[in-house]
Amino acid sequence: MSRPAPTPRTVLVLSSLLSLLPELHAQGGPPLPPQAEARIEALVAGMSLEEKAGQLNQVATDAREGPGGILLSCDDLIRKGWVGAILGKDDSAGINALQREAVEDSPHRIPILFGLDVIHGFRTEFPIPLGLSATWDPALVEQTARFAAAEAARQGVRWTFSPMVDIARDPRWGRISEGAGEDPFLGSAMARAYVRGYQGRSLADPSSILACAKHFVGYGAAEGGRDYNTTEISERTLRDVYLPPFHAAVQAGAGTIMSAFNSIDGVPASANPFTLTQVLRVEWGFQGFVDSDWTAVRELMLHGIANDEETAARRSFLAGVDMDMQSGIFLGKLPGLVRSGRVPVSRVDEAVRRILRAKLELGLFDRPYAPGGVPAAAAEIHGRELAESSAEESFVLLENRDVQGVPLLPLSPAPERRIALVGPLADSADDMLGCWSCGGRARDMVTLRRALATRAALDRFKITYDRGTEIDGTSKSGFSAALGDARKSDVVVLALGEGRSTSGEAASRSSLDLPGNQEELLEEIVATGKPVVLILFSGRPLAIRWASGHVPAILMAWYPGMQAGPALVRTLFGDAQPEGRLTVSIPRSLGQIPNYYDRLNTGRPRTDAEGLGGDAADQFHVSGYVDGTSAPLYPFGYGLGYTRFSFSEVSVDAAAVSAGAIERGEASVTVHADIRNTGNRDGTAVAQLYIRLRGTSVARPVRELKGFERVRLAPGESRRVDFRLGREELAIWNLDLRHIVEPCSLYVWVASDPTRGKPVKVELTE
Ligand code: BGC
Repeated sequence: MSRPAPTPRTVLVLSSLLSLLPELHAQGGPPLPPQAEARIEALVAGMSLEEKAGQLNQVATDAREGPGGILLSCDDLIRKGWVGAILGKDDSAGINALQREAVEDSPHRIPILFGLDVIHGFRTEFPIPLGLSATWDPALVEQTARFAAAEAARQGVRWTFSPMVDIARDPRWGRISEGAGEDPFLGSAMARAYVRGYQGRSLADPSSILACAKHFVGYGAAEGGRDYNTTEISERTLRDVYLPPFHAAVQAGAGTIMSAFNSIDGVPASANPFTLTQVLRVEWGFQGFVDSDWTAVRELMLHGIANDEETAARRSFLAGVDMDMQSGIFLGKLPGLVRSGRVPVSRVDEAVRRILRAKLELGLFDRPYAPGGVPAAAAEIHGRELAESSAEESFVLLENRDVQGVPLLPLSPAPERRIALVGPLADSADDMLGCWSCGGRARDMVTLRRALATRAALDRFKITYDRGTEIDGTSKSGFSAALGDARKSDVVVLALGEGRSTSGEAASRSSLDLPGNQEELLEEIVATGKPVVLILFSGRPLAIRWASGHVPAILMAWYPGMQAGPALVRTLFGDAQPEGRLTVSIPRSLGQIPNYYDRLNTGRPRTDAEGLGGDAADQFHVSGYVDGTSAPLYPFGYGLGYTRFSFSEVSVDAAAVSAGAIERGEASVTVHADIRNTGNRDGTAVAQLYIRLRGTSVARPVRELKGFERVRLAPGESRRVDFRLGREELAIWNLDLRHIVEPCSLYVWVASDPTRGKPVKVELTE
């Protein structure tokens, strides 16, 4: 049973106590073998204050000020023992050269920890994280992370700033592409998968790297979707929505956490004792170390909670940040703060111990140098296969209407067919990388055009290719050639979307429209009357309302990574199925944002198109818009395939279960459903288990995902899926902000997406 959460008042008192008595809650990492702990103690005992602050200092390899304000090169800083970690290097030669300075020339010969943003692959690029989340396949995501870890570790990168586990509900926010979407349950499953993949069974394994769950916390709730913006999150929403994936990462053993840029309720996340110490250390018992985001410590001055560097360092450090990324302020100011008694040395020692433990666990003291070199050919082949299968699983088929009586997809590769490939993203290798491409190289990306040409040569169908326009183009000069080829074709494959620099950090948009004149190109191509398959490349949901009503087949491809082309071609021709399901709702219009599936019902819900929960007496004064529905265009969980499935109503083992027994871990609700493949092809259903709780002390969402399973079925085959709902799934943050299972009515159903399915009731009794 988890510890009852403190009420907000207690939290306030606790947070202020914590900053007054910071050493009270100082904790170290999990004890290592006694010999290793003794080694750490001996090091700490022998280090000067500057050397201790050096371990808390993370830099890119630029020159910066050391204590005393003198400008030093990175090499000089390392030799003095004033650098604990370096970020941004990705090659063994460069890394080993710097490491040599640390382990041969610095006073205590402490190795440097090298970190990098290995986000969706190192050299072998997998789909962007939002795409990977659409696989609903944590085991596959774990494999991609494991593969990336091995590639990175070989070059000496033993720490990744991933996974980004920020829940994101605003597609304007560019960083929605870096996470697992809008849902905390799915987000938690993905968080665990990444951590397991990066860290492997043991960090001592030379192919394991430290994970860093980021950005703690609430970063995804940036107002207006503007990156770095302020957030307003109630404590209940924080605990319900934004904290769970971090908790999952911590429970999976994530070695590090990155504190975020945003403020929550006026308190910058990188100086927030409530989240960084109360929640992370006291409630969750996190034992790794906390790294600030890039210059987030210095930015406390811009936030306006510190008028000088000393105050910024002190506030951030005492709140719970152990390592300062790129501000250089911990190095410059912590020694003086300790000497003047404003920061206890015991706190500095604790932070140093945490960092040394991580280095010891990674085996860096014994094997500081990276082997380098290239992976064996077999590993490379495995990487490509994994890149291809993860891309295939990430594609979400949004539409697949009949053309001449049959669904347009899959296409037939019959000889002599003419396919017109059109669009600025059909042959853009660089864009296939997506955000944070790390060591990925455009020349290794196989585009749709290249893969289609290979397939055309094999199957002897004909293709033409026209860019049509540029991604951000305004000129229509390429339209006529594209339209001409489209008219002569049997089918048009149109590759549209955003350029990769429009997604990711500092890449928020105030419009979700297709950039440039792509929408115009789309409409003119559709006007030719030829069947059109629209493939969308982007790192966020786009405004595709017109397309959804006029284009027979739409495939959301995200940024698929290295094997973009082969995965798409196999999907287009039916060698692979599009198996992805949305992990973010696609809104009908910008004005609907935010629009997430697990909303509250309100006292005046709309019944139209919203699925469940509507029983307002008066259908006029309802929550919604007078100019349209508030239902999204495509909801979270949605995605088609090349076959169809039917889901039975669920059966439950008991119509009533004691809430107290569930709370004590003595009982659970078991749920079963049968899924049948009713089509005539193999396919994978994603069984999604949703619940709604009614009669609780606080309002709960109209639907919440609490289980999912991918089920592969042959035509006509059916299978039973079983789920168990226990304390973890059923406890809520109640009126008193206690996390408990309350007596209430539980409605449960299993469906292909949350708007379908018939809820079955189970009473959770007193
Ligand atoms: C980003 C982090 C990233 C860090 C290091 C920051 O600007 O917010 O997500 O890990 O840079 O590259």
